[in-house]
Amino acid sequence: MSKIILTGDRPTGKLHLGHYVGSLKNRVALQNEENTEIFVMIADQQALTDNADNPGKVIENITEVALDYLAVGLDPSRTTIFIQSQIPQLAELNMYYLNLVTVSRLHRNPTVKQEINDKKFGESIPAGFFTYPVSQAADITAFKATHVPVGEDQKPMLEQTREIVRDFNRIYNKDVLVLPEIILPPKDHARLVGIDGKGKMSKSLNNGIYLGDSEKDIKDKVMKMYTDPNHIRVEDPGQVEGNVVFKYLDIFDPRTDEVTELKEHYSRGGLGDVKLKKRLNEVMQEFLRPIRERREEFAKDKAEVYNMLKAGSEKAESVAASTLDEVKDAMGINYFKK
Ligand code: TRP
Repeated sequence: MSKIILTGDRPTGKLHLGHYVGSLKNRVALQNEENTEIFVMIADQQALTDNADNPGKVIENITEVALDYLAVGLDPSRTTIFIQSQIPQLAELNMYYLNLVTVSRLHRNPTVKQEINDKKFGESIPAGFFTYPVSQAADITAFKATHVPVGEDQKPMLEQTREIVRDFNRIYNKDVLVLPEIILPPKDHARLVGIDGKGKMSKSLNNGIYLGDSEKDIKDKVMKMYTDPNHIRVEDPGQVEGNVVFKYLDIFDPRTDEVTELKEHYSRGGLGDVKLKKRLNEVMQEFLRPIRERREEFAKDKAEVYNMLKAGSEKAESVAASTLDEVKDAMGINYFKK
């Protein structure tokens, strides 16, 4: 395989349109590329680093995330979908990598710093949370991933992984670990704005449209979308810049010429928000209906979803085991190996 891809999500909630445009869409494209092997991990261990007291939330969302994957077209016959905690070799690699990283280096990780702030840990940062970038290096290197498609916020994790790979290969004098490259989403898709227009679509801001949302939910959310607060009467000129409805039309409406005309009309005045939102509602319904229907179909047989995850985890474990074996060989700690 010329390209090996590893990526994943923390199972802390259902996936939304932001996940779709920022990563899921790209994963579906990658699984259909020649000479590419793709692993998609449900990072339950990482989710537990800041949900230790609420494992139920994590456990429940494993199936939700798996259903979202299947609904958007990740195909288990092409993509190995697995659960992090079922691959003990990842924790073992993490143990060895922790010795290659300093506490001060971890303190400098801007994403972790931000998260520590957002989550209001104060002085009580769980040690597992603080060191999750190292465990992420274990995830990536266990599969000898050459490419890691993730959002901008994961850049520091990739840098950390690359440092660990270089240090490991230098110290143990072997080219065992593979230096991974990051694949960032296309700029305009990187941060899909939430329906409130205030920031990135996210569960915590409660501004998301979910892949499993009902027809009514979608309509209600589109009708609530932030537009131009100064566009009061239909005949007033409206602002396209910063208008969430146009952002979504740009991404989801295939009739780009018409969208350009609508923007002109809106700027001139004479085009009402309701009319515009009705169009977007139709576009979004058409886009999300097949996804929701597939999701409902898969949800009827959760046992089958678990079988799929089990098979994926078994395959992932065999790959991780062979990397761990090479790692221990390189370190000279495979004491009982003949
Ligand atoms: N940190 C990622 C997230 O928040 C999830 C993740 C865990 C991951 N391990 C990974 C992503 C390895 C890419 C590679 O969604």
